[in-house]
Amino acid sequence: MPSASPAAAPDTVLVVDFGAQYAQLIARRVREARVYSEIVPSTMPVAEMLAKNPKAIILSGGPSSVYAEEAPSLDRSLFESGVPIFGMCYGFQLMATTLGGTVDNTGAREYGRTQLTVSKNSSTLFEGTPVEQTVWMSHGDACSAAPEGFTVTASTDLVPVAAFENDEKRLYGVQHHPEVMHSTYGQQVLEHFLYRGAGIEPSWTTGNVIDEQVAAIRELVGTKRAICGLSGGVDSAVAAALVQKAIGSQLTCVYVDHGLMRKGETEQVEKDFVAATGVQLRVVDAEERFLKALAGVSDPEEKRKIIGREFIRVFEQAQAEIIAEAGSEGGEPVEFLVQGTLYPDVVESGGGTGTANIKSHHNVGGLPEDLEFKLIEPLRKLFKDEVRMVGQELGLPEEIVQRQPFPGPGLGIRIVGEVTKERLDLLREADAIAREELTAAGLDREIWQCPVVLLADVRSVGVQGDGRTYGHPIVLRPVSSEDAMTADWSRLPYDVLGRISTRITNEVDEVNRVVLDITSKPPGTIEWE
Ligand code: XMP
Repeated sequence: MPSASPAAAPDTVLVVDFGAQYAQLIARRVREARVYSEIVPSTMPVAEMLAKNPKAIILSGGPSSVYAEEAPSLDRSLFESGVPIFGMCYGFQLMATTLGGTVDNTGAREYGRTQLTVSKNSSTLFEGTPVEQTVWMSHGDACSAAPEGFTVTASTDLVPVAAFENDEKRLYGVQHHPEVMHSTYGQQVLEHFLYRGAGIEPSWTTGNVIDEQVAAIRELVGTKRAICGLSGGVDSAVAAALVQKAIGSQLTCVYVDHGLMRKGETEQVEKDFVAATGVQLRVVDAEERFLKALAGVSDPEEKRKIIGREFIRVFEQAQAEIIAEAGSEGGEPVEFLVQGTLYPDVVESGGGTGTANIKSHHNVGGLPEDLEFKLIEPLRKLFKDEVRMVGQELGLPEEIVQRQPFPGPGLGIRIVGEVTKERLDLLREADAIAREELTAAGLDREIWQCPVVLLADVRSVGVQGDGRTYGHPIVLRPVSSEDAMTADWSRLPYDVLGRISTRITNEVDEVNRVVLDITSKPPGTIEWE
């Protein structure tokens, strides 16, 4: 799949993934140290790793014991390649056993915060850090003898060799997880490896990404044209802005207004995004079409399918028009499609383990499957927080850059029951109030997202003014999460909840009750439908 990639590769550190959840975190920490990093699977042949010309290699932790039959291994030649290597946890033990050290299958386990005693704090890894420090451990086997030529630089109560270093060969290892926040000096130890052990200059920034990508996209696209679907979310907005910076009016963006957006969001794309980027935007007003297709439908899966299907139809039609117009003007053909794919998507789809289909997700702004376009994916190498930084540097509005996740099918799956224009308007008002109050209370960064749901098929009795009411409840679903795979309900301050409730019941007709969802995920998903 063609994609824009950096014209000149930056100094790269490879993070070899031994199958735990740590590799992505390590890669992010390396980038926080302003060094570019990429994750590769431990099954990649050593020659292929070396062909990437890495300035250093980090071996991640992993769930196996080095003695397990199926335990992943590494060819010894990697350690003889001259590339500086840093092993962590499993990577450390693998380095030890491969190079002739001893790892005992003692059954002793260390898990969680552990006291590390540094025996040589003038060493490459530990310089300037205290003799006693807290680190995060998660292992069974323990190293009892370092390989020849290595100096032992730290230990714990249970583990005699908790770190070793070989400056001559530039090989280093620690039993703990420096990438985890609970390892107090972890980032410093990692940076010591990168700067002192491997001699890498910290020079990688998101500003470099913009320059590299702009150059690469220009070269890739030449005089041809590209289109991009905007969803109102961060990723497609930043991808579009980056491509716009590279090829200007050769890019056309398409925004399908399905009428299921929140209050003010369509205007933000139409006005603020266009003002900030100067992008050519085609807005397709498809509200009526979507409402018609959704009429009479209450089943969540059916709603999702209808919204996904209609979206693709509308997008394809807009795209056909753009292609036809380009052709009739005798212009260059539309050959490229811009997508806001992020690095975790790339890594995870490489991992390839299937998960049960709980809900069919439609990424509005996403790619109809049978399109014959070449892809431009300028964010393929970035993590979400880096994408936000790029967006900020490109001058995108704060409301777009800091936007919390919002589902492609929009408010369509936040109305339990049939979706109608009246209900959407009502939910938009309630949602806007909740968002306003959360922002005013400074809670936006603390919560992952807060779906506001209308229970359109439920009514309850209330009293408002002098009369009895028989209105609908609104559900608040504030959640905290790292990645949306699991979530906990956010403990919002009562006074904020109180203000939201009072304002919604006062200001939104037909709503006479506000309830709080206090379910974690699992068992409850974040969205109600
Ligand atoms: P659930 O409800 O499955 O949601 O716990 C997990 C995360 O995904 C978002 N979500 C979607 N995002 N298209 C999207 O782009 C969808 O169809 C969709 N459905 C749910 C949800 O908001 C949460 O962040």
